[in-house]
Amino acid sequence: MNTETHVSNRWSNKYAYILAATGAAVGLGNLWKFPYIMGENGGGAFVLVYLLCILFIGIPVMMAEVAIGKRGRSTPANAASMVATESGKSSHWSIIGSMGVLAGFLILSFYVVIAGWAVAYVFYAGTGEFSAAAADPATNAEAIGALFGNLVSSVPNLLIYTTIIVASVVYVLSKGVKDGLETAVTYLMPAMFVLLVGIMIYSAIVGDFAAAFAFMFNIDFSRLTIEGVLVALGHAFFTLSLASGIMMVYGAYLPKGVSIAKTSIMIAIADTLVALIAGLAIYPIVFAHGLEPSAGPGLLFQALPIAFGSMPMGDVVGTLFFVMVVFAAFTSAIALLESAAAYLVERQGLTRGKASLVAGVGIWLLSLLTIFSLSGEEWTLLPFMGDGKTIFDGLDYLTANILLPLGGLLISVFVGWFMKDELVKEEFNVSEGQFKLIMVLLRYVAPIAIIFVFINAIGLF
Ligand code: PHE
Repeated sequence: MNTETHVSNRWSNKYAYILAATGAAVGLGNLWKFPYIMGENGGGAFVLVYLLCILFIGIPVMMAEVAIGKRGRSTPANAASMVATESGKSSHWSIIGSMGVLAGFLILSFYVVIAGWAVAYVFYAGTGEFSAAAADPATNAEAIGALFGNLVSSVPNLLIYTTIIVASVVYVLSKGVKDGLETAVTYLMPAMFVLLVGIMIYSAIVGDFAAAFAFMFNIDFSRLTIEGVLVALGHAFFTLSLASGIMMVYGAYLPKGVSIAKTSIMIAIADTLVALIAGLAIYPIVFAHGLEPSAGPGLLFQALPIAFGSMPMGDVVGTLFFVMVVFAAFTSAIALLESAAAYLVERQGLTRGKASLVAGVGIWLLSLLTIFSLSGEEWTLLPFMGDGKTIFDGLDYLTANILLPLGGLLISVFVGWFMKDELVKEEFNVSEGQFKLIMVLLRYVAPIAIIFVFINAIGLF
């Protein structure tokens, strides 16, 4: 049994932390999920609510979570319980850590499957499938749609690509992430950003940019439902990697003297920019080719390949783009598995290698639920969730719309009301005025908003 309760790992410096946390934040949530849930929820008004959630709830909760991790210097459940005890409160607050680790694990089980799609698309682009589909402009969109349909309905294909992702995540993690990952992220994140901006400019030229811009920024509240507000709130947590143990783990590795407030704001800005640019890259193509904004999870994979197919050097650019998607997903997947692995090391006394392997095998098994959901197995249907909804939809709903907001609620209540003010102040290390502002957000704004949205959307009462 490992009795070590304090982690001794530290990021090399502030920038390493910012890059790793941004790497965890920027992922499929920005490139794949944000564009399609925005489409399903009517555009502009959804974007506005999402931005407000990031600003007034996401950023303060991120600061709270990092502060707990840094104060506790331990894995999430332990850190939360230690900080609670230090403030003279019940050690049962460990629940905010354990719930996070559970949410992260469930998220990862479908995350690896979608990341697998991106791996498949690297091969498709590399072998010229996109330009082949574009040979006949009249059937381009259908041909790309068929490519996607064939991928997700084939269990063997999904198994291969998912396994590639899970195995690589386990491999990198068992090696210890620091050197390899920190360096890789340093080059690949900026490269992804440049590529994404390039693709946005290209699709603005060839696609219907005006329609895309209007769709994303014309605010029409009649198109937004309360369910949509819950989706926006849940996604604010998802995209910033909150309430899933990760920011506590990364906070525990934080060197002294780093400003939790400043770094949280920088991470949130970078993350939000990537999501908005992804929307502006995808939607001009969607509108120019008569695709449906409400196409659902396949949107990214059905829209951009149309642009790649007909642009000069499209196969190369497409390959590069999906390599970047894989990478963005990979840095998030690593973070997600890190919190489970760190838990196994600390609580079960496993070595790092074994812990990564055990967590990886668990994720691989759990990912089968999503794989069979996608291939349309009858037993994966969840009729109570609606027509055609599957276990995959259920896992997505349970994590993003229930566990993450609930975790965020508990975290803001804990740091706002239960953790001793002096301790919070010491960790945040901001001016008196800024401290007051953040505390108002944590004490009142975040909890009240989350409870309000919950009650209305889930119809609790
Ligand atoms: N933030 C990641 C993304 O947007 C997903 C994620 C969620 C990662 C929760 C870690 C924890 O893709």
